[in-house]
Amino acid sequence: MSEAATTPAADNSAFSPRVFSGIQPSGGLTLGNYLGAIKRFVEMQESGMETIYCIVDLHAITVWQEPEKLRRATRELCAGYIAAGLDPEKSILFNQSQVSAHAELGWVFSCVARIGWLNRMTQFKDKAGKNREKASVGLFSYPTLMAADILLYHATHVPVGEDQKQHLELTRDIAAKFNHDYGVDFFPLPEPVIEGAATRVMSLRDGTKKMSKSDPSDMSRINMTDDADTIAKKIRKAKTDPDALPSEVAGLEGRAEAKNLVSIYAALSDISVEEALRQVGGKQFSEFKPMLSELAVEKLSPIAGRMEELMQDPGELDRILGDGAARARAIAAPILDRTLDIVGMVR
Ligand code: TYM
Repeated sequence: MSEAATTPAADNSAFSPRVFSGIQPSGGLTLGNYLGAIKRFVEMQESGMETIYCIVDLHAITVWQEPEKLRRATRELCAGYIAAGLDPEKSILFNQSQVSAHAELGWVFSCVARIGWLNRMTQFKDKAGKNREKASVGLFSYPTLMAADILLYHATHVPVGEDQKQHLELTRDIAAKFNHDYGVDFFPLPEPVIEGAATRVMSLRDGTKKMSKSDPSDMSRINMTDDADTIAKKIRKAKTDPDALPSEVAGLEGRAEAKNLVSIYAALSDISVEEALRQVGGKQFSEFKPMLSELAVEKLSPIAGRMEELMQDPGELDRILGDGAARARAIAAPILDRTLDIVGMVR
């Protein structure tokens, strides 16, 4: 049995293409979640591939969540998915805890993954901080559950932001080690899909820090539920430098805040950063920021409005999640069954 992570090149030709991704219902959605994940989810839904999008509530409780707030955040995320363009008829939308196979396969994978692999996860180090001993066991073993989320559906493509890349590599290592240890070709090695102009949206207050729902400063992020005035205020106050915008990508080197705002502009306009700089190169921030605000409000306000409408009918959101969970269970059950057979469980 191999102890080291040695993932071979992926040959997923035996598996039909299937997309899986998830977002935690811990706090509200940010512009980072939208540009890094949800916008991609919608594009992949339209690509004709089978798409499964999860609200990973079991992941959320790796740090304490107020139960009522968790329920609300789960419904709000469901509303966010739909408002941004996911169609529950075309994609399977559900919350993780309604499909118990995630937790079951997660256990099997926690016996496949090595402690050394998890020790290398930078997200755990960031989230646990200095207080490592006080972090939950779940926060540490979290990537094994994430691997189960993906592999339970034999997913081949996983759209995520840049920060999830390491977890995707671990997922591939787990799949490869399982296949190797049991002498099977049962799990695919899923491909991360990290695309677009803004795969790592940064804080508006500090261009070297990721935009995050857990940042104590609300001014550091744009929330998907922010109104037009709030979006404009946050962009107006966003940290910048005194120089005009460059016309070439190389000119953004060493200018983290400028690079971030231009990337956001490009991603919201569905153009590359190069193209964005052809449009805005030479402008001062005093001219560029109002352009960016207008664009952000134009793209985000309709989503916020639709989310609010959808939140008026929580029963309908619960129905959508229940229906999605039933469809997810139907795909997951035979894959979990076969896994337990391979592992040697009497059933
Ligand atoms: P989470 O909930 O932290 O983030 C959800 C998605 O949003 C992306 N994202 C960003 N993208 C660009 N810039 C940012 N500032 C930014 N902030 C967040 C994340 O990369 C992610 O794609 N472990 C995952 C959830 C998960 C999952 C999965 C994902 C659980 N199981 C299976 C894919 C497949 C997480 O905590 O994402």
